[in-house]
Amino acid sequence: MRKNIVAGNWKMNKTAKEAEELITALKPLVAKSKPEVVVCVPYTDLWTVAEAIKGSKIHLGAENVAWADKGAFTGEISAEMLKEIGVEYVIIGHSERRQYFGETNETVNKRTKQALANGLKPIVCVGETLEEREKGRTNRVLKKQILEGFEGITDFTNIVVAYEPVWAIGTGKTATAEDANKTIGYIRRTIKTNFGEEVAKALRIQYGGSMKPGNAKELMAERNIDGGLIGGAALKAEDFAAIVNYKD
Ligand code: PGA
Repeated sequence: MRKNIVAGNWKMNKTAKEAEELITALKPLVAKSKPEVVVCVPYTDLWTVAEAIKGSKIHLGAENVAWADKGAFTGEISAEMLKEIGVEYVIIGHSERRQYFGETNETVNKRTKQALANGLKPIVCVGETLEEREKGRTNRVLKKQILEGFEGITDFTNIVVAYEPVWAIGTGKTATAEDANKTIGYIRRTIKTNFGEEVAKALRIQYGGSMKPGNAKELMAERNIDGGLIGGAALKAEDFAAIVNYKD
């Protein structure tokens, strides 16, 4: 009932020219893919990628969105600006934003509400650090991120959650499929308890953190995992396509 969604998170990689090359290579490789395919790209690539994906099934995403409509917010990009380009998805609260740029559960909440109010679909990232995991705090951290990040939100139709254990991002370490499934199961139960059973059943939850062609199949086979948020492997058309087409 939940359609898998595989999203590339390009982070701060690819100039507009390189982005065009990557999309050109990717397009034919994902032409028949079953999951929903999204590429979340740097702001400076958005116009180019919006043009390059025309006629394909690839959806366009940005890597953040401002919580305000407009005004004195140097360096921020508004929902309206993104919509004009044709952006559909926005990543919110990625651990790199939380770690290096002061993103908090409160700002995640504000950005998520702003995205929803403007018809953008948020991919909201949650996940524990290695230290939190080793101290047995994973569930507590996730619960706080969920309750505070989604405070006041009732309609989850357009929301995607990405569970990304911070220790697995860009490190080559992946959570085992069983572990990831268990933790995502906890996230789903927390959503159920606080936002209702129907919401929890319909909500798509991705796994992210060193997902590669070699481990995608095993991860996606898990009951609770509805796709992936892919960093490093999204920068190569063949690798990203192999993850998208993990069933073939
Ligand atoms: P990775 O990044 O696939 O390179 O680990 C995932 C992410 O940070 O979204």
